[in-house]
Amino acid sequence: DTATSSIDASVPPLKPSFDPTNPQAESSRLKQVIEHLGLQPHIEGGYFVETDRDTLRVPNPFLEQGTAQGSNDDAEKATRSASTTIHYLLTPISSLGAFHRNRGRTVHTLHQGRGRYVIIHADEVAAPSCPKGYDSDDVLEEQRWQGKAKIETFIVGQDVLKGEKLQWIVDGGKYKTSFLLPDEEGGDASEGLLISETVVPGFEYEDHDFMKAERMTALVTKEQAEEMWWMLRK
Ligand code: GUN
Repeated sequence: DTATSSIDASVPPLKPSFDPTNPQAESSRLKQVIEHLGLQPHIEGGYFVETDRDTLRVPNPFLEQGTAQGSNDDAEKATRSASTTIHYLLTPISSLGAFHRNRGRTVHTLHQGRGRYVIIHADEVAAPSCPKGYDSDDVLEEQRWQGKAKIETFIVGQDVLKGEKLQWIVDGGKYKTSFLLPDEEGGDASEGLLISETVVPGFEYEDHDFMKAERMTALVTKEQAEEMWWMLRK
């Protein structure tokens, strides 16, 4: 089979390596890791625990000018934790971290396992202009499938000689997804992908949003979207 990905011609088409309905897939060791680290299900898929939140507060760099004055709620939003750090784990049962973006910059560090990341550099393309009366989330027919956003994909893993990454940085405003790969190339088993992520300034839900199917149509080609629908949050 010589088919290649419409996202990167040097790799095969992107598809999941694990079947979430196969309960045998999760090793008992992996269940123990989840227990010992105190990991909880993440809304993106996978499991996480916040391991650090800096008590230092810094001015919120994402505030719109002229907001956050007055109420207590606004005072809270005027600053952010300087940084937060989490453990994040993908497993054979929960093997996809669905497409989303954060406003903060995220530093990722690998501990164990292999996975593939896909980054859509949406922050580098002008947002399509939106006629009066339309919601800014709407995409007009003529704005679809132009494929203007750069898409990047790479493997994270221990094999640095093959180009696998131990560290990867994703700037704010870029859409990111990740999925678990077998521990051995061509194999079918995994002991999970365990990483750390540090976000600067610290994570807040209001800085986070999921990629919507509608938005994807305005960023990539139809062929690329067909290959990536499964990575959207259901
Ligand atoms: N709470 C829910 N998701 C996250 C996340 O990605 N990072 C942190 N620090 N907290 C979260």
